[in-house]
Amino acid sequence: MLDKIKQLEKKIKEEIFSVQQSIDLLAIEKKYLARQKGELAQLIKRIGKLSNEEKPIAGQAFNQLKQKINQWLKQRQQELECQSTKDNSTAIDITLPGKKYLLGYLHPLTRVRQQVSDIFTSMGWQVLEGKEVETDYYNFTALNIPFDHPARDMWDTFYLKKDNLQFDPQLIKETTKNEKLLLRTHTSPMQIRVMKSQTPPLKTVVIGKCFRHEATDAGHEHTFYQIEGLVVDQQISLSNLIHTLQDFLKDFFQQEIKFRLRPEYFPFVEPGLEMDISCFNCHGKGCSVCEQTGWIEALGCGMIHPRVFQEVGYPANKYTGFAFGIGLDRLAMIKYKINDIRWFHRGDLRFNQQF
Ligand code: PHE
Repeated sequence: MLDKIKQLEKKIKEEIFSVQQSIDLLAIEKKYLARQKGELAQLIKRIGKLSNEEKPIAGQAFNQLKQKINQWLKQRQQELECQSTKDNSTAIDITLPGKKYLLGYLHPLTRVRQQVSDIFTSMGWQVLEGKEVETDYYNFTALNIPFDHPARDMWDTFYLKKDNLQFDPQLIKETTKNEKLLLRTHTSPMQIRVMKSQTPPLKTVVIGKCFRHEATDAGHEHTFYQIEGLVVDQQISLSNLIHTLQDFLKDFFQQEIKFRLRPEYFPFVEPGLEMDISCFNCHGKGCSVCEQTGWIEALGCGMIHPRVFQEVGYPANKYTGFAFGIGLDRLAMIKYKINDIRWFHRGDLRFNQQF
């Protein structure tokens, strides 16, 4: 009997491994393993008739054969599947590690710009961006900074050749013959554009890119963002300005912010003020981030200068208003404790992915 089983085993193995299509494997399975009519079912019947000594030995060989058949069927099935995927060029090798799709991240400055815009929108303000290329008039003269005024030194910039600017004919139209075009050094020119084109009451915030011709260091960049606030109405006072800034800072930093105001000169406001906020790093004790003062310069602000109102053609003594200019990069640095402004433009993903 054992010999018979051995022979049968050899035969089945050959049959299984010569099969070329899975469907033939099913036929073989049926032929040998079918419950009643399969050859193995016949074989077990015969084993049942053996003597008590032979029966367990043959039974064991029988079981092993059955196991082997199942194993061969599986093995051959896999081989056939593998062959068919090899023939197929679109086949997927499921054993290869998958492709990683990285999620995109918003740049921290974009994030802060959106937050600032949301805060002012929720207060009912108009949000604008403005032009990055400006005329000398809007960037300086209209803001009470005439040609040769020493204050222009604070806002040195990059000047452009007009013939390179065919893309903005409107801007060319706005410049006089000898007037220069430049990259705006602040968002304040938008104060003039807004006041010239709209009548009060005005509540506008301008969030956009500015440029300065200056050396870069941990706290300064040639390209940065500003947030310009402009409110004009009747009876607007300095306390409205302070309250607005306080509200904004609280909303932006999600906590009460300690700040101080000190007098500062900006030609287009009177009085002009500078706001410092308590250093996030040392909480006022003095450290390298705040140059040992305990305070960080956050923004310039003040009440609109009467000469500016005159320039935009508003009637004398009818309106009052305030303006402020905040460095958006600086806000982002304070909020996320970034110690060098140059990180924003390095394009280093390890930095960007932290936000
Ligand atoms: N434009 C000023 C600057 O860039 C900031 C400022 C804006 C000051 C509005 C007062 C009022 O330094």
